[in-house]
Amino acid sequence: MDLFEKQSSEFARRHIGPDEHETREMLAAIGAGSLEELIKNTLPPDILLPRDLDVPGPVSESEYLRDLKETANRNRVFRSYIGQGYYDTIVPSVILRNLFENPGWYTQYTPYQAEIAQGRLESLLNFQTMVSDLTGLPIANASLLDEGTAAAEAMTMLFNHRNRDHETATATRFFVDEKIFTQTRQVLETRALPAGIQLVSGRFDRIEPDETFFGGIVQYPDSEGTVVDYREFAGKFHRAGAQVIMATDLMALTLLAPPGALGADVAIGSAQRLGVPMGFGGPHAAFFATRDEFKRNLPGRIIGVSIDARGKRCLRMALQTREQHIRREKATSNICTAQALLANMAAMYAVYHGPTGLTEIAKRISFLAGALATGLSQAGFGLRSQAFFDTLTVEVPDTAALKRESENAEMNFHYPGGNLVTVSLDETTTRNDVLDIIHVFNRSVGVDASHVSFDEDASEDFIPASLARTQEFLQHPVFNSHHSETEMMRYLKSLENKDLSLVHSMIALGSCTMKLNAATELIPVSWHHFSNIHPFAPAGQTAGYGHIVRELESLLCRITGFTACSLQPNSGAQGEFAGLLAIRGYHHSRHDQHRNVILIPISAHGTNPASAVMAGFRVVVTRCDEAGNIDLEDLKAQAEKYRDTLAGLMVTYPSTHGVYEETIREVCQIVHDRGGLVYMDGANMNAQVGLTSPGTIGADVCHLNLHKTFAIPHGGGGPGMGPICVNDKLAPFLPGRDGKGAVSAAPYGSASILLISYAYIRMLGAEGLYKASVYAILNANYMKARLEKYYRILYTGRNGSCAHEFIVDLRPFRSTANIEAEDVAKRLMDYGFHAPTLSFPVAGTIMIEPTESENKAELDRFCEALINIHEEIREIEEGRADKKDNVLKNAPHPLSVVAADEWLHGYSRSKAAFPLEFLDQHKCWPSVSRVNNTFGDRNLVCTCEPVSSYAETPA
Ligand SMILES: Cc1ncc(COP(=O)(O)O)c(C=O)c1O
Repeated sequence: MDLFEKQSSEFARRHIGPDEHETREMLAAIGAGSLEELIKNTLPPDILLPRDLDVPGPVSESEYLRDLKETANRNRVFRSYIGQGYYDTIVPSVILRNLFENPGWYTQYTPYQAEIAQGRLESLLNFQTMVSDLTGLPIANASLLDEGTAAAEAMTMLFNHRNRDHETATATRFFVDEKIFTQTRQVLETRALPAGIQLVSGRFDRIEPDETFFGGIVQYPDSEGTVVDYREFAGKFHRAGAQVIMATDLMALTLLAPPGALGADVAIGSAQRLGVPMGFGGPHAAFFATRDEFKRNLPGRIIGVSIDARGKRCLRMALQTREQHIRREKATSNICTAQALLANMAAMYAVYHGPTGLTEIAKRISFLAGALATGLSQAGFGLRSQAFFDTLTVEVPDTAALKRESENAEMNFHYPGGNLVTVSLDETTTRNDVLDIIHVFNRSVGVDASHVSFDEDASEDFIPASLARTQEFLQHPVFNSHHSETEMMRYLKSLENKDLSLVHSMIALGSCTMKLNAATELIPVSWHHFSNIHPFAPAGQTAGYGHIVRELESLLCRITGFTACSLQPNSGAQGEFAGLLAIRGYHHSRHDQHRNVILIPISAHGTNPASAVMAGFRVVVTRCDEAGNIDLEDLKAQAEKYRDTLAGLMVTYPSTHGVYEETIREVCQIVHDRGGLVYMDGANMNAQVGLTSPGTIGADVCHLNLHKTFAIPHGGGGPGMGPICVNDKLAPFLPGRDGKGAVSAAPYGSASILLISYAYIRMLGAEGLYKASVYAILNANYMKARLEKYYRILYTGRNGSCAHEFIVDLRPFRSTANIEAEDVAKRLMDYGFHAPTLSFPVAGTIMIEPTESENKAELDRFCEALINIHEEIREIEEGRADKKDNVLKNAPHPLSVVAADEWLHGYSRSKAAFPLEFLDQHKCWPSVSRVNNTFGDRNLVCTCEPVSSYAETPA
């Protein structure tokens, strides 16, 4: 390799942990002569790719950024007055720098391990409090994917609730007001069809609901900007036994009566305009708030208050068992990954501005909208409404002329049809902008003038008195304390410091692929030319994004061995739903509507059956054999039993047991022979890229979790992206660009983070991608080789190897030492590590996935921690340590416990907190003792409580 080739391939060296020397040592430990031999010994030969990936060569980090700058400049950033759920916003610099662009925040995992996640849990609780306060509804979750899917989740929740006592659903109609955002309607349509929900479109003031309705949705303010009083509408629905969803806007709610006070049962919407850039559609946090009655049906995650082992107040994800709403045929939602990082940004925006600051921002917007209305009226333009917050719908004689003039002036409006134009203002709008808008309107009718008065004293109030907010909000001290930049910076840091992320140590989460999220991949996401583009900006202004989209679609097709791709699904589970809808579309197009059975192996992730149910299929679960593989005989029997109604199979490969099953091709054939199609769950693509592919194996469709294999960070529980790739058969059934079959609100889902995966592929090139998979396998097999001397490894494949992850069985220690898998998970925190995946897919086990990004030294530290924990278990088994008072049962040990004057344990403080020497350099303290899981669920509190409750609660 010459000097310049070396430079081009530098990123692979930086992304992949082990160097040549370490590689040799690791291969020796495994007993393989070379990496090639390792691969030969691990993968079934009949699935190997016949040739190298057709992906262009690698580019260096600096070359990539230089090229991308040019692509970015092909996007043209106009002033956006399009609105419709996406608004320009000012990201406070202190949040941009200390949260959005900070790996201490964005590389965190979902906060399942509460003791090392108190920081983000607090921030998400702030988010819930903000949503609950502003919407006037008591229960809120910690984010959903976008406004459209939140509306669909709300509809489904009400549908299941209304019909829960009936064998067959009796109330199947759902009212959709004609003035909800178009993209929300499209997502509702996609969701309603397979669920057997009949959408009834119309005007909210004309609908007369009866017992066939279970609910209805309205937009507040509506898509034309009108602030409507929905009290009467809500009353009518309630009298008919149906519920009401209001899609709403948190900024507007600082000035408007909250949905809860107008009779809403559910309020949903997007928190984007609270300091999260538009990013061509996302990622942004959607919110969901509801009445107490629905708290056990709420989709997504809820953060709740609990106590730790010392009775100290702490936080955790509440109702985690309920979170298994993603459970097989009882599924009501498939939400897993949501938008935690963006919820944190929005929450911090509210913390920074506080109730007064937010109200001032909203008042400025409202004042400018009022001035614009007056100016346009005086210029002779007709307004559709005199009751609005930030959006005006204006009648113009010639929309084409207006569009031409506005685009000449580099501004975009929204054209809902006919002679109407909609103009939405936001917190970035200035008085000069308002003058410019009026000027453009005037020019469109041949007048070259612009005039308006900005006299605050003389300004008219366009919010009707009956809908003006009287309720206080954000009174909790957290929203009233951190308003200087110094305070805000310290608050952000103090929360970050409570949490463990990839900046501390490896996070070996099986099935989640917590690999490096490289700075070069992430930097462009906040570039002006990518972050400030509206998802519905005219195509002529988004050529840069268009280029990335086309390239990425093509690259992902080549990697998966498929021919068409949709980048729309904004999580893996949404990808499953979209892929299954494609299968459904295919069967229906052949008049095979009766093909409605999906086979799913018992080892599958919960989202698989949940998505299948959502897509209108019947789930039939098939067995695994003792070795953890799909039980071929059972699969055959089930496929045969349902051969006339078989729609397909969902399968994860390598399996969720971390094994390349030898029979995978046969599995696909069994299904194909009986008229079914094969859906491959791409969660484990990190063990396929460059080695094999879903297309090569014989699948028809797969999703890719870009937030796993393709380097998008987990963000503490989102964002993510779950594009799907399909073969020719299914290509016509992908979600359409025209909104047909939409599974997300925006055409390309959370488009701005596609840049991360694009960078990953471009900088690694074909060889680097191949190497990444090989090293993921090497790292897993090396750890397995070290740990199998101490622990039972549950399943292995060819030659005793594992794929990119493996399962460690902890169940035997229950009887020998009274130790549970959870004790080991908590003890790992004392060693500075996040636990691997706990009890998935097998209860009582941990699943380790090191990824290629960790070097041997880090893998060794983790192994040493687990080996030492094994010794600590032995001490209990042999009676050298007490069965109750031991380092595992009492784990984790926070600093406040270790440094306390009182120490009542039968082991030393240093054994508790510094059990291995490397901890002198690597200590990361959990901030609370073991969190009490049941207390929080029995006493569900999911908003910030009054300060008095922070006083210690007796255990
Ligand atoms: C095997 C498997 N399938 C599907 C999913 C769902 O993906 P997402 O969380 O992106 O919705 C996961 C998530 O961890 C998974 O592990």
